Amino acid sequence: MNELYKLVKYHAGLYYDKDSPEISDAEYDSLVRELKQLENDYPQFSRNDSPTQTVGGEASSLFAKVEHVTPMLSLDNVFTHEELVNFFDRINAEGFVCEMKIDGLAVSLIYEDGIFVRGATRGNGRVGEDVTENLMFVDAVPKKLINAPAGRVEVRGEVLMTNERFNAVNAVRESKGEKLFANPRNAAAGTLRQSAKNNHVIAERGLDIFLYYLVDAERFGITTQEGALMWLSSHGLPIQSAYKFYETLDGVKDFISHWQNERYKLNYHTDGVVVKLNDITSWPEIGATSHAPRWAVAFKYPPEEARTRLTNIEISIGRTGVLTPVAILDPVTLAGTQVSRATLHNADEISRKDIRIGDIVRVRKAAEIIPEIIDSDKESRTGTEKIFTMPGKCPACDSEIVRIADEAAYRCPNRASCPAQLSESLKYFASRDGMNIKGIGRKLAEKLTASGKIHSLSDIYTLTAEDWMTLDKISTKSANNLLAELESSKSRPFVNLITALGIPDIGKNTAGLIINHFGNIDALMNASEEELSRIDGVGEVIARSVHEFFRNDDNRKMIENFRAMGFNMGGEILRVSNELEEKIFVFTGTLETMTRDEAGEKVKAMGGRVSSSVSRKTDYVVAGENPGSKLRKAESLGIKIITEQEFLTLITTSVE
Ligand code: IVH
Repeated sequence: MNELYKLVKYHAGLYYDKDSPEISDAEYDSLVRELKQLENDYPQFSRNDSPTQTVGGEASSLFAKVEHVTPMLSLDNVFTHEELVNFFDRINAEGFVCEMKIDGLAVSLIYEDGIFVRGATRGNGRVGEDVTENLMFVDAVPKKLINAPAGRVEVRGEVLMTNERFNAVNAVRESKGEKLFANPRNAAAGTLRQSAKNNHVIAERGLDIFLYYLVDAERFGITTQEGALMWLSSHGLPIQSAYKFYETLDGVKDFISHWQNERYKLNYHTDGVVVKLNDITSWPEIGATSHAPRWAVAFKYPPEEARTRLTNIEISIGRTGVLTPVAILDPVTLAGTQVSRATLHNADEISRKDIRIGDIVRVRKAAEIIPEIIDSDKESRTGTEKIFTMPGKCPACDSEIVRIADEAAYRCPNRASCPAQLSESLKYFASRDGMNIKGIGRKLAEKLTASGKIHSLSDIYTLTAEDWMTLDKISTKSANNLLAELESSKSRPFVNLITALGIPDIGKNTAGLIINHFGNIDALMNASEEELSRIDGVGEVIARSVHEFFRNDDNRKMIENFRAMGFNMGGEILRVSNELEEKIFVFTGTLETMTRDEAGEKVKAMGGRVSSSVSRKTDYVVAGENPGSKLRKAESLGIKIITEQEFLTLITTSVE
C-alpha cells in the first residue's frame, strides 16, 4: 500500500501539476483502483492523506491562490456495468442525465452582474489557481452573459482543446523539434496553466470550454440538472449538446454503448460518460465524500484496443544509438485514428511476449499518441510466422551492434558518424531546450544527414546559403533567414549548449546543475567522474555519461569548433539571466535536500538575498516541512510561496 501511495502521488503530480504524464490514464486509473481495493480490505492501514481521498493536484505558485467557497469535487469512476448497477442501487432514485465526460481541465468561472470577473482551476478542490488573466485570452469563455443575471454567479466546466487544434499545435511543435503534447488534455492544461506573459500563445492555441455545472442552481429556481444546462445555454455559456435524460438504468446503458464508438466522431476527446441524478434538490441530502459527490458517477470506457496483422518489424535508431523495434501493421482504426506503426519497446519485450512477424496482434493506445502492442494471438498462427532477431549490424551505418551488459538495450556504438544518430541528435540540438533553431525539424535533419554534408553537429554552421537552398529546395530569402537564425543561436545561454549536446540522461535541469557547479566548459570537460557524481542531483549514472562524453576525441573536437565559432562557453559569471537578481527569499520549515544555509548560498550565488523574516518586500517564501508562522504571515501578505522542489527548479532554470 505504501508503494501504491507513492506511485499514485507521483503520477498524479505529473498529471495534474506538470501536465506531462508518463503513463496512460487507464494505467493510472488501475493503480488508483488497486489502492482503493486495498484500503477497503485493510482499513487499518489506510491513511488520511491517501491520494484516493484528495482531488487533483496542488495549486502552482505561478498563480495567485483562490479558495473555492463550494469545493470543486472530482467524480468516482466505475469501469463495469456491475459497478454502475451498484451506483444505481445505492442512490435508489430515478431520472438521470448522461453527459459525455470531457477530458480537459476543470475550471470555475465567476460572473458579477453578467460580467466575467474571475476564473480558477480546481487545484486541490479547496484551493485553486487564479487564471482569470489567462482565460481572458480564451475566446470561447464568454466575457459577458446574455440576459445578464443579477449578482454573483458561479459556473463550472471543462477547458479543452479540440482534436483539430491539438493536431495543429503538435504539428507546429514537431516541425520546431519541440516536445509533443501527449494528449489534448495536457495540451489544454499546459496552455492555460502558464505564465500570463505568454498570453499570445494562449490566444493562438484556441482553447474551448463546455460548462456543465451551475453552483447553487436552486437560487435561480432550477431543480434539475437538465434545467441547469438549459439555463447555462440560455445565458450564452457553451454546453455540450450530447447530453440526454433517461428515466432508468437501461436508458443510461444505451447511452453508454451508443457513445462507445460514436465518441470518436466528436471533435474533442472524451474518456467516458458522466451520469448525474437529474433532481438537483436531492443532491445535498445524498451528499458527497471528501473526494466526490454520491449523486453522480463517471463511467470510464476501457482503453481502446484493436486487432490487426503485424507485417514487419523495423528498427528505429535514437539519438543515443539505442535500437527500438517498431511494428509495422496493416492499418487499423484505433480510438478514431488510423494506426500503422506501434512500438515494441525492446528485444526482450518481443521475446517475452513471443511476438512474431506475421502474427495477429492486439494494439492499444498507451500514453495516447504512441500505440503499443499488447500481445499476439498464438491460436491463429499458420506456421509461416517468423521469429524476429535484432540485427547484428546497424541498418543505418553498418557498425557492429553492441549490447551493454546491464542494459536491455542494443546500441549502435558509432556516436560520431552514424547518420541515423546524427539526424536524431541534430533534431534535439535544434530543439527549444537546446539551441532553439527554428526551421530545423525532423525532415530537414534527415535531409541534412542524408546529403553527406555534415558529420558532426557543429557542421551545420559551416553550410552556405546555396547549400541550404539545394538541400531543402528553399528560396534565397528563407536560406538567409535560416543562416541568421543559426548565427543568433550561437549566443544562446551556455546551459542550452550543454543540453543541446544530447549527452545521454542530461536534460536542461541536470545541465543547469552541472554548469552551476563548474561554471565553464574547461572545468566541465576536465572534471573527474568522482567530482561529477558529488554534485547534488547528479549521481553515478549521469556522472559516467558526462565523463564518457568528454573523453571522446570527436566530441572534444566539436566543442573546440563551437568555441572557435564564438558560442557561449560559460565563464566566471553564470548569471546571464538576472531573474533572481536582488530577489529576497525567506526560508521556513525543514528542507529535504539541503540545509537552509546551503539554500541561502544558492540564492546568493544567483544574486539574490536571504532574509530571516517576512515583510512586504519579500519576493519568495520557500516552505519546507513543518513551516512556522512565517508561512501564515506570507499568506496574509499575499507573498509568493513555493515548495523546495519549485525553489530548485527556479534556481536551476535561472542559470542561463
Ligand atoms: S460534473 C461535483 N460533468 O471530470 C461534480 N464533470 O473525473 C462535478 N468532467 O472533476 C463534475 N466532464 O473536471 C462533470 N460532464 C461532466 C464532466 C466532468 C468532465 C471532469 C470534471 C471532474 C472530473 C472527474
